[in-house]
Amino acid sequence: MTSQPAVSVLFVCLGNICRSPSAHGIFAEQVTRAGLAGRILIDSAGTGSWHIGNPPDPRTQEAALRRGYDLSTLRARRVERQDFDRFQYILAMDHKNLDDLRRLQPAEYDGVLDLLLRFEPTLGVEEVPDPYYGGEQGFEQVLDLVEAASARLLEHIRTRHC
Ligand code: 4NP
Repeated sequence: MTSQPAVSVLFVCLGNICRSPSAHGIFAEQVTRAGLAGRILIDSAGTGSWHIGNPPDPRTQEAALRRGYDLSTLRARRVERQDFDRFQYILAMDHKNLDDLRRLQPAEYDGVLDLLLRFEPTLGVEEVPDPYYGGEQGFEQVLDLVEAASARLLEHIRTRHC
């Protein structure tokens, strides 16, 4: 028996080549491990357009692969207004992403538009820092923060939708 997705989640950052594809791949793996593949529609997008069509940054891919997440098939795209029709959860990596999304948000949107890290308040930070211009440690920090918050996001979604 095939089942339709019960819920849909879009992760958003600036370039869609570092943070949001990391969240996309990590959450997809957590969902699969929970036996919920197919029940949750997952995607990622960027507020900027520089990297449209590109795979995730090689540094992001390498760091993710060391933890068992293969991001190689993902391609960057820009977030669009129609995403508010398709996704019940639209989760931004930082406040600037969230502000940009709020400007795009149709007045009638009744889903959850928020920061991903708000799902794990014990982290003590609300933003996933942009690793693009920094060193290797930044990419590890992205993975640490996203792994923790997306596990809590999955618990949240599971109890409400699956
Ligand atoms: P992301 O990182 O928003 O996590 O994908 C960035 C990627 C590229 C740029 C900025 C941030 N850029 O300026 O090209």
